[in-house]
Amino acid sequence: MSAYPNTAVETTGSESADPCCAAPLPVLGRDVTVPLVTGGEVTYAALDYAASAPALQRVWDDVAAYAPYYGSVHRGAGYLSQLSTDLFENSRVTVAEFLDCRPGDQVVFTRSTTDSLNLLARTIPSGCEVFVFETEHHASLLPWQDARVTYLNAPRTPAQAVETLELALAGRDPYGPALVCVTGASNVTGELWPVKELAAAAHAHGARIVLDAAQLAPHHPVSVQELDVDWVAFSGHKLYAPFGSGVLAGRSDWLQEAEPYLAGGGASRKVARRADGGVDVEWHTTAARHEAGSPNVIGVYSIASACKALTEAGFDELVAREQHLIDTVRAGLAEVPEVKVLSLFGDDAPRVGVISFVVEGWNSSHFAAALSAEYGIGVRDGLFCAHPLVRTLLGSDPQDPGECGAPEAAPGERSLNAIRVSFGAGTPDEHVERFVGAVKELVRDGAQWKYRTEDGRCVPDRG
Ligand SMILES: Cc1ncc(COP(=O)(O)O)c(C=O)c1O
Repeated sequence: MSAYPNTAVETTGSESADPCCAAPLPVLGRDVTVPLVTGGEVTYAALDYAASAPALQRVWDDVAAYAPYYGSVHRGAGYLSQLSTDLFENSRVTVAEFLDCRPGDQVVFTRSTTDSLNLLARTIPSGCEVFVFETEHHASLLPWQDARVTYLNAPRTPAQAVETLELALAGRDPYGPALVCVTGASNVTGELWPVKELAAAAHAHGARIVLDAAQLAPHHPVSVQELDVDWVAFSGHKLYAPFGSGVLAGRSDWLQEAEPYLAGGGASRKVARRADGGVDVEWHTTAARHEAGSPNVIGVYSIASACKALTEAGFDELVAREQHLIDTVRAGLAEVPEVKVLSLFGDDAPRVGVISFVVEGWNSSHFAAALSAEYGIGVRDGLFCAHPLVRTLLGSDPQDPGECGAPEAAPGERSLNAIRVSFGAGTPDEHVERFVGAVKELVRDGAQWKYRTEDGRCVPDRG
């Protein structure tokens, strides 16, 4: 039943044929319909993949097939425990293959990219200097607070990113440990960062580098060896495997030398009472050292399943299809003079399907609410957990964006928030076409419904 009162009925549920490339990969939720505030229902257009992507049907099927065989990992003598342990450890191998890891690299299963980067931050040697661009997602920006961290200014070209890093590294203690943390693809602009060049610069100055691949791995192949990065972090829920797991993969030395991330069973090999009444612990030196507690075998298996599904679909096909969607959205937005797309590296920069923009005369929260309520399109608005970057791109100061009925900014003034549309391997053409049509219509005709602010969010006013 519709959550909104029925007024004019307009449905746009039919999907146009996908003329380009391969068909989208089947994902869960592709047939879900949602009510429109203006009446009727449409199939939901999930265009917030950068936050969380829908589960691949293949991942869901694999998890469902395994579920009856679920058992404890690393701690049971029974058949299903052994089967689950094998599944868990084989998933490690699959992820290592997916990332093209070096022999000897460790794959640690975590909860998410945030968790992975916080784990790495706990393993850095004492005195380690950390270099991170201010443009990073907060997950990459913030875990280093206890280290000697240098925040690098936003570069305006990929070459400037490399120059900025080289300059910063040149001034550091050449004998001390150092780590560079960089994103592969921006969660705001979708732009690809020059990871290979940054890795070369880091290594030339004796530093190591960790790649935040949260937004890269779902869209492009990531090769640890080819990029020559020391660690990679990514999240299952952005890689079509939303079961609460993430990955930190890479060099084992810092991981093995550090104290366990969590103390407890699974991380410890041997525990004994001492004569003085205390406890002696021998910790594992494998990935298990940082995986204390009962592991999330379903989450881990789902990541391995997604890695296999994407590899089998072929990244050449996936990238070609996504580029077609990117071109459709960018060309459509370019036809609306009121829309300004946010970019650090400019129009020609290679990018993934993540596009942020502002609309002159509109409050971003209002615009996103209207896309949802009147067109059944799910996007995100705000600062996308990358406050310094979005503020740099908008040129605005941190302020309350204000009531949603009113534009945040008068024509010609800066917006305070942005709207982000993002998509990927499961997105049909119809979703991005509907989005482009909706943007044009909203800018031309305005919203058909009244909205009000509730708990800081813009919502249809049904009072
Ligand atoms: C580039 C980037 N890094 C890290 C993260 C954090 O990912 P998670 O929330 O899964 O920990 C995100 C999430 O949006 C992201 O976009």
